[in-house]
Amino acid sequence: MNNLLMTKEEILIEALPYIQRYEGTTFVIKYGGAAMTEAKLKESFAKDVILLRKIGIRVVIVHGGGSAITSLSEKLGHTTNFHDGQRITDDDTLASVMMALVGTANKEIVRLINTNGGTAIGLAGMDGRLLSGSKMLHDGVDLGAVGKIDSVNTKLLDLLISDGAIPVIAPVAVGDEGELYNVNADFAAAAIASALHAEKLFYLTDTEGILTNGELVPTLTAEKAQQLITSGELSGGMVPKVSSAFEAIDSGVHKVHIINGTRKHSLLLEIFTNVGVGTQIIRSEGRPKGTAAQPKTKRDLIDFSTLDQTTLLELFKLSDMLKAHPEIKPLTGKSVAVLFQKPSLRTRISFEVGIAELGGTPVILGDESIGIGKRESVFDTAKVISRYCDAIIARVFGHDLIRELAEYADVPVVNALSDLLHPCQILGDAYTLYTHNKLHPGVKVAFIGDGNNVANSWIELAGIFPIHLAIACPKGFEPSATLIEQALAKGLSTIEILRDPYAAARGAEVLYSDVWTSMGQEDERSDRLKIFAAYQINAALLNVASPNACIMHCLPAHRGEEITDEMMGVPQSVIFEQAENRLHIQKAVLATLIGGDDVRAGHLSSRNGTHHEQTTTTVSH
Ligand code: CP
Ligand code: NVA
Repeated sequence: MNNLLMTKEEILIEALPYIQRYEGTTFVIKYGGAAMTEAKLKESFAKDVILLRKIGIRVVIVHGGGSAITSLSEKLGHTTNFHDGQRITDDDTLASVMMALVGTANKEIVRLINTNGGTAIGLAGMDGRLLSGSKMLHDGVDLGAVGKIDSVNTKLLDLLISDGAIPVIAPVAVGDEGELYNVNADFAAAAIASALHAEKLFYLTDTEGILTNGELVPTLTAEKAQQLITSGELSGGMVPKVSSAFEAIDSGVHKVHIINGTRKHSLLLEIFTNVGVGTQIIRSEGRPKGTAAQPKTKRDLIDFSTLDQTTLLELFKLSDMLKAHPEIKPLTGKSVAVLFQKPSLRTRISFEVGIAELGGTPVILGDESIGIGKRESVFDTAKVISRYCDAIIARVFGHDLIRELAEYADVPVVNALSDLLHPCQILGDAYTLYTHNKLHPGVKVAFIGDGNNVANSWIELAGIFPIHLAIACPKGFEPSATLIEQALAKGLSTIEILRDPYAAARGAEVLYSDVWTSMGQEDERSDRLKIFAAYQINAALLNVASPNACIMHCLPAHRGEEITDEMMGVPQSVIFEQAENRLHIQKAVLATLIGGDDVRAGHLSSRNGTHHEQTTTTVSH
């Protein structure tokens, strides 16, 4: 599996936009659970936070220590009493809190970070009057010295942070009379993140994030949280965690993430890779504080994370149906904004024509006119377009931008290519294979060339439909290791990363190619021409493929580079069908997203009586 690992350069380059974006911002991390007790996880956590600090992120750690307090109390022969799952903090328990939490746990974290090369400083509420608090009742019940935080000495934290230190805070607050309060670490982290106007607040837990029926909830809005609490799907310790997360968001924290602390380096994975992990908590689809909730379930197509085989086949059937019935106009009266940060022929025309054929009005916008994220904020752009249009299609550079648009827009957002993914292309390509009866389980697809956005979307497809995907690429040009890991975890497909294009092509039923130099990489073109010279679809490669092989290319093609002129036109080539099918599949996507229930109910769901949502909500940063 070593060849699936990303090279150091790839890792660094994927991290670059995040490093640039988060430098100088504040991250508050609630540290607890297994990440705080297991030696290997402790060390990986320490290294993660040191790395964050070294690249200019202002890191603050707030830690728990519940089990250490209980076990010390037991050793001392004190009985710990709980009311409704909440610890009653009597004088003996408070003494254990001071010893186990402020003493042992706090200093152990500080020691760990300092031994690994960081500069951590341990603090509790009484140090420099860091956390001022007062008594808190639990549903009207007095739990002893249990308190809440009323104010945070941010000046002290700023002083330490600006000197390069990582404050490590034990959640004990001090009252007006000098009395001490034991504060729930989740609440303390939220209060501290709010006071510091943190960019992000992380809760490290022992689960993947928020789960319902064993499935990860990638994005949790306030409405969704309320539904889950009402239905009992969200319960126990997650409820106060989620409530404190929303309080933090209302106080100006940009995003809250619940991530799995039992996974090594989960913090780095969440922060610095294109594919986030865990659950992100946002107020409500980017709605500004204080504005009324809108009763709407918005669906997007950003990636394939929640698309499944059934919904994929439903999209194919709907494409067939719309092709056969041009009189069906599910987008009548609707407008769709189509934004381009990069050039396009197929995507632009297929969306423009497709929207018009469905009865809608396309509004095509080049980046020179709207300057996404430059002329005004992404938030404002998304909100304004949502007032005029019923959906947003966008082709962007950074994948983060499409995820932000999806987060802030009040209308569905479709990814029309990002540096990471090209989902519309692969939906069209899968549909092309389907129309040729070639999309059968286990079909061998050989992708020859750069492990780019198109390769990554093939990998995502392998997560929802069983294929044998063999990607041949030069060293250092592999596709996303994270996406491979996620697709393989579904247990449907085989994915191989090979150096030898012949090994990939041998017996393949699909030979697939894309440009060696993608949009945005033009400066690397002369190097890439040399590096990729052997990764060409030509007669010799076709010769080792299956006798029924078809040749595919997403286009634009550079004849004579990644594919020979001859191979573009041989009978096995379905390349121009692929281009046409972008139109049909995207019409099905649009009809499903905004076409109204008649199209969906009549032609997607009526066969089995159930409507499957086909779009995704992604984990975003
Ligand atoms: N395949 C594809 O997306 O083509 P365009 O870049 O021309 O849109
Ligand atoms: N990988 C190519 C795909 C073009 C449709 C690019 O991003 O430029």
